[in-house]
Amino acid sequence: MTKIELYEVGPRDGFQMVDEYIPLETKVRIVEGLLDAGLTHLQITSFVSPKAIPQMRDARELASIIVGKYPDADLFALVPNLRGAEAAWESGLTSVSYVVSLGESHNKANIKRTHEESLAGLQAILESYPQLDVCLDLSTAFGCPFEGMKTKDDVVPFLKPYVDSGIRTVNLCDTIGIANPAQVRETIEAVRTEYPELDLQVHIHDTRNMGMVNTLAAIECGVDKVQSTLGGLGGCPFAPGASGNLSTEDLAFMLSEMGYETGVDVPKLVELARYQASVIPTGQFSGHLFRVPDTTSST
Ligand code: COA
Ligand code: ZN
Repeated sequence: MTKIELYEVGPRDGFQMVDEYIPLETKVRIVEGLLDAGLTHLQITSFVSPKAIPQMRDARELASIIVGKYPDADLFALVPNLRGAEAAWESGLTSVSYVVSLGESHNKANIKRTHEESLAGLQAILESYPQLDVCLDLSTAFGCPFEGMKTKDDVVPFLKPYVDSGIRTVNLCDTIGIANPAQVRETIEAVRTEYPELDLQVHIHDTRNMGMVNTLAAIECGVDKVQSTLGGLGGCPFAPGASGNLSTEDLAFMLSEMGYETGVDVPKLVELARYQASVIPTGQFSGHLFRVPDTTSST
């Protein structure tokens, strides 16, 4: 059975889209529910400016609680700069996602940096924290809300200085849910051919109902690490029109029905997604399964 590693990013990509502050204990309960359902790779928060994303102002507290209780889980956080990496490290995390957008306009809207500044920021992190695992989150890898579609010919040369700087994990993010399966395949194959040393992940939004097919296209190209969010909660506050992610429980359901191994308990996830929707009623959820009773197994 082929194992697919599910990377749950709801506590970051999902929660960041919720305006009203989610109490710390609710966040902890959801993170613990995700771990209890068998997820082992979790992006639990982001260390960003509280002015940019007020929801993430409890990042240090949340990370310290979860790292303290679950030292064996693969926990990570999103960081936009050296300051964020420092805070993540001090909170006990040893793994971060460094976010840069392929579209420079979105990079400026999201993290107020040019491409050159973002590259310099990454190099500063790698120098200051050589023991930190750093994944490059390439946002808008398939299309930018301000610049339009992107192709493999944009992605491949963009990655070169990052690979040269030592990056070995790249997460191709469809931030605005604009990709199609042929484009996903082409991009992955081109990146693989140019940089066989890279470990690839995908992070696909479901804005145009293409989250599942695009993620499946990546899996069928051999990508075995995919990101998603509980209930499909998610989006980018700095990308107009960006809405929910592919939902973890929908993805896990499809994969297990297809004979892939995911290690997660789908009914538990569905219950947790229902709980999440009850405590975050204002969220944008793209998930389907949690709205439908008793369909978590075909048997
Ligand atoms: N964590 C917490 N605070 C931070 C920070 C971090 N990683 N980086 C900067 N700050 C604080 C600074 O201390 C400063 O605070 P002050 O105004 O109280 O002095 C303030 O943020 C501005 O700092 P500056 O370095 O000038 O940042 P900026 O205004 O150029 O913004 C970012 C750059 C990256 C900090 C900000 O745009 C950001 O956090 N973006 C994240 C957006 C995001 O999470 N998007 C969704 C995920 S993809
Ligand atoms: Zn996202």
